Amino acid sequence: MFGLFSRKKDLVGIDIGSSSVKLVQVLADKDSFQLLNLGIVPLPHEAIVDNSLMDTAAVVQAVKDLVASLGIKTRDVACSISGNAVIIRKILLPAMTSEELEEQISWEAEQYIPFDIKDVHVDFQILGADPVDPGKIQVLLVASKKDIINDYVSIFSDAGLNLAVMDVDAFAVQNAFELNYGQPEVVRALVNVGAGIMNINVIRDGSTLFTRDVQMGGHQYTEEIQKQLGFNSDEAEARKMLAGSLSDPLLKEVIERTNESLAQEIRRSIDFYNSTAANDDRISAISISGGCSKIYGLQDAVQARLGMEVELLDPFANLRYDEKTFDPEYLKEIAPLMAVGVGLAMRRVGDK
Ligand SMILES: Nc1ncnc2c1ncn2[C@@H]1O[C@H](COP(=O)(O)OP(=O)(O)OP(=O)(O)O)[C@@H](O)[C@H]1O
Ligand SMILES: [Mg+2]
Repeated sequence: MFGLFSRKKDLVGIDIGSSSVKLVQVLADKDSFQLLNLGIVPLPHEAIVDNSLMDTAAVVQAVKDLVASLGIKTRDVACSISGNAVIIRKILLPAMTSEELEEQISWEAEQYIPFDIKDVHVDFQILGADPVDPGKIQVLLVASKKDIINDYVSIFSDAGLNLAVMDVDAFAVQNAFELNYGQPEVVRALVNVGAGIMNINVIRDGSTLFTRDVQMGGHQYTEEIQKQLGFNSDEAEARKMLAGSLSDPLLKEVIERTNESLAQEIRRSIDFYNSTAANDDRISAISISGGCSKIYGLQDAVQARLGMEVELLDPFANLRYDEKTFDPEYLKEIAPLMAVGVGLAMRRVGDK
């Protein structure tokens, strides 16, 4: 976990996405998790544009609404950022302890980060010894822009909350995967396709081998439907959701073309990773999540492009919940959208 201000207390996961804000709260028992609270509030279209916060008042209001309607008492929050708000690099450094690296990380990071080091918060995870040169260690460097973190700190404080853990979308999805399915022994790509951004994270044994965010997602479908079929954005959004059940060949054509361009982009990233990996490290499994995984035909398109079965990541697979409080059908409906939120809620505060 890349906790900024970690503390050992309960927290709620709040995923601020460009189409909606999601809140998840879980109770951690010894080895299992129980779902306590869950909610989604849609955001106005213009609140987050190109992954940037444009209308913070609307976001604050959505967070407040969620917390009030669910009666949340916990004040500490875990949230996450993605895209160009954060830079993630795998680097090689001379072998050293975590404590030593803690002292040196800013200095080491400087050459890998295209911003003034004073403007970023630098975090890291030691992945292990380098298999080629045992005198070196592989380190995952995570640098996030301070001004963006501060925007999120303000949003939560305006909503009467405290940002306790700042995470990264791709790592929250990984957390949701691992806590539901265990740590994969094979190399697996986790692909989370949201409204504005697609997070790709290649993992094995609890470590990230490669990660990339691409600015592609559900908005693209809505825009294509608007442009090519002449609907306004609300009509286009509704048609995108219903495409599977409408008999509208033109609509299906637009969606299939967009599926194709998304699938191609996923293929490009996976090929890029595979081309740098040893044979044993090639991707052999893939899980998809995010609201777009529900788009008509996308899963099949990705499957065809990759020649590999694409599995759905269910963030509730291993969560206990009371069926009187949470309708299993509803949970199934929204599961793809909740991967980041569940991953955030499952953060054990203070762990790294
Ligand atoms: N049933 C559905 N059919 C098709 N698309 C859907 C469906 N449900 C949600 N979506 C689409 O999924 C997207 C929302 O997914 P998600 O909640 O993962 O994104 P987000 O977190 O709000 O955005 P981001 O993380 O990209 O900023 C929207 O574009 C929405 O239209
Ligand atoms: Mg999202």
